[in-house]
Amino acid sequence: MNKNHTYPNFPISRLRRLRKTPALRNMFRETHLSKEDFIYPLFVVEGSNIKREISSMPGQFQMSVDSVLRECEELQNLGLNSILLFGIPETKDEVGSGAYDANGIIQKTLRAVKKGFPEMLAITDVCLCEYTSHGHCGVIENEYVQNDKTLELLAKEALSHAENGADIIAPSDMMDGRVAAIRKTLDENGFTETPIMAYSAKYSSALYGPFREAAESAPQFGDRKSYQMDFGNSDEAMREIALDIQEGADIVMIKPAVSYLDIIRRTKENFNIPVAAYHVSGEYSMIKAAAERGWIDGERVMLESLTAIKRAGADVIITYFAKEAVELIENR
Ligand code: PBG
Ligand code: ZN
Repeated sequence: MNKNHTYPNFPISRLRRLRKTPALRNMFRETHLSKEDFIYPLFVVEGSNIKREISSMPGQFQMSVDSVLRECEELQNLGLNSILLFGIPETKDEVGSGAYDANGIIQKTLRAVKKGFPEMLAITDVCLCEYTSHGHCGVIENEYVQNDKTLELLAKEALSHAENGADIIAPSDMMDGRVAAIRKTLDENGFTETPIMAYSAKYSSALYGPFREAAESAPQFGDRKSYQMDFGNSDEAMREIALDIQEGADIVMIKPAVSYLDIIRRTKENFNIPVAAYHVSGEYSMIKAAAERGWIDGERVMLESLTAIKRAGADVIITYFAKEAVELIENR
């Protein structure tokens, strides 16, 4: 916008002219959602024929691999083509071995999804918290998450995902140097063209509560404040993003989304790189809960929230609402 331009005042200018009819409003709407904007998260568990609703996330499920395949079919029919996979292993240990096991839950899921749905973009969350007995995103020594020791395990996990067909690797741990470590390992093993979508500005947020039930990944002691960002900070987010880009990130992510629209906008204005925003579990569940009580119109609040995220500058949105949103958008 040209700030030096002067516009005529009322009564020559009447902004209501372009709001008068649906046709006018639709024509001049600046931000449109479309099915290509969305990435749909899925929680995979061992077993078969499992589709267990997550009580704190109505409409979202833990699914076994066979159920995930049925879900992929449904997603493709809706025109949704990308999923973000979270694995919930049967057993956990101190070092999260299930995360980089060739027969781990994500590895099995990737092989099945890429076989049945080769066109589906399979993105994998790379972190250890779902796989560690203590629920932290890294290796613990002296009750502290050890940065550099964790990097080796994250790189192993990322490589294992790539080897089993992951299309994009998404590290969510917030260790320093993880993007460089992962990029180096992927490149040394021939995965030079596997993109990294870095959870770059991931805040330590109370809005992840429902997810931790879904992924069974709540920390068993303490919190994640020594690695995830403080929610009062914005400059620090720019530093995180700059570092991740230097280390080789192809896409940077802001998380959560609606409470961090300023960060999304600042990122879009400062960097020329695709920006993803994660509309997280708590953001989803708050809308669902208020709608269930009849306090808000859930569908309208959903579309308003997702549009705001895009308007702020997000190129893609990771959201549990992907299916519901597409159904509404397509039948508009
Ligand atoms: C794993 C991870 C989390 C989320 C995505 N990846 C949880 C956390 O950091 O505790 C949160 C997603 C959501 O709330 O929807 N580190
Ligand atoms: Zn984690």
